[in-house]
Amino acid sequence: MVAVDDDPGVLSTLHTLRDAVADEIAWRWPGDPDGMAALHHYVMLPPGKLLRPVLLLCSALASGAPLHPVVPAAVGVEAVHVGSLLHDDIIDQDGERRNRPAAHTVFGPAKAIIAGNALYFEWFAALTECARRGVPADRVARAMRVQCTAGARVCRGAYDEITMAGWIDTPVEDYLRMAEGKTAVLIEAACRVGAVLAGAAQRTVDAVGAFGHHLGVAFQLRDDLLPYDTTPDASGKPPVSDLRNRRPTLPVLLAYRSAGRADRESIRRTLLDPADPSAALTAMHALVTRLGALDEARAMVTREADRACAALARVDSPGPAYTAVLHHTARRLTTGNDQEPGRPETALGDPST
Ligand code: IPE
Ligand code: IPE
Ligand code: MG
Repeated sequence: MVAVDDDPGVLSTLHTLRDAVADEIAWRWPGDPDGMAALHHYVMLPPGKLLRPVLLLCSALASGAPLHPVVPAAVGVEAVHVGSLLHDDIIDQDGERRNRPAAHTVFGPAKAIIAGNALYFEWFAALTECARRGVPADRVARAMRVQCTAGARVCRGAYDEITMAGWIDTPVEDYLRMAEGKTAVLIEAACRVGAVLAGAAQRTVDAVGAFGHHLGVAFQLRDDLLPYDTTPDASGKPPVSDLRNRRPTLPVLLAYRSAGRADRESIRRTLLDPADPSAALTAMHALVTRLGALDEARAMVTREADRACAALARVDSPGPAYTAVLHHTARRLTTGNDQEPGRPETALGDPST
């Protein structure tokens, strides 16, 4: 029997969906050299891993929807995600994203803020395009409510993250709640919107929502591990960002929780006074490794991915091929081979492997 993760059918479905999104993005943001369109073209193309749009499409197609009417919603969730990255890179003062200069370093922060705002509106406008393609108005209204609620929660999560900067005493539970807000909520919303637009029963909407929630938490915890587990080339972003911004990420908090007095002092000093962020990353790497925090954080990623997969059992799906892609996506997160900017086929499963 072919394991789900190796199933060529899963990988080819994944590719088809990713291509559908990428084609729509290329069509919507052509290479216009002028004005805000130039910035949008720069940030939307080439696309990133397209995690959220692929999840939205899988949730919709698993619930029996045809592809064409729901593709705009998938592009919409990528637009709001990219808008949040534009703002996040300004807040974090990060100069690289997806292995190239971040938009604010190319176009300036003021234009990047405004262009990010415009991408948020695209998230909502996309739903009206779904209606134009035949999705019933009541489903569009429900999806709009999901997006409005999620948008406000994401902002709260991002706000809480800034408040936590420098707080090494932050309880892990508070940290996880913040990570849910800033990252998992949008991923959950993508899954819910797909099922809602397909007209799925509430039980299925909730099941794919729970899947997205746990996958989203796993995704953020994995992001916290990237500075320790991958090269900057693989992640496409500065590995020192979290320490330079004094962010108490999951490995740091787990290490602090289990450390004795002397190690706690080292962790505190390394986080709070990173005069040289590269040296601080080396020092923190040694601490979180020795204190078992990296293994503990990796185990938490696996636990959340398992929970995501368990939620899929509650999906009443007329399209099990797409549920299999959701399963595959959660599993890939636990293999540590999920980051390859500009090469989404590798990020979500390389059909050539
Ligand atoms: C990065 O998201 C921001 C986080 C929530 C960790 P992705 O890793 O999905 O970014 P791209 O779109 O693939 O670049
Ligand atoms: C992720 O923020 C959440 C967003 C809304 C962008 P991070 O600061 O953790 O993400 P990266 O590491 O810059 O991609
Ligand atoms: Mg950031």
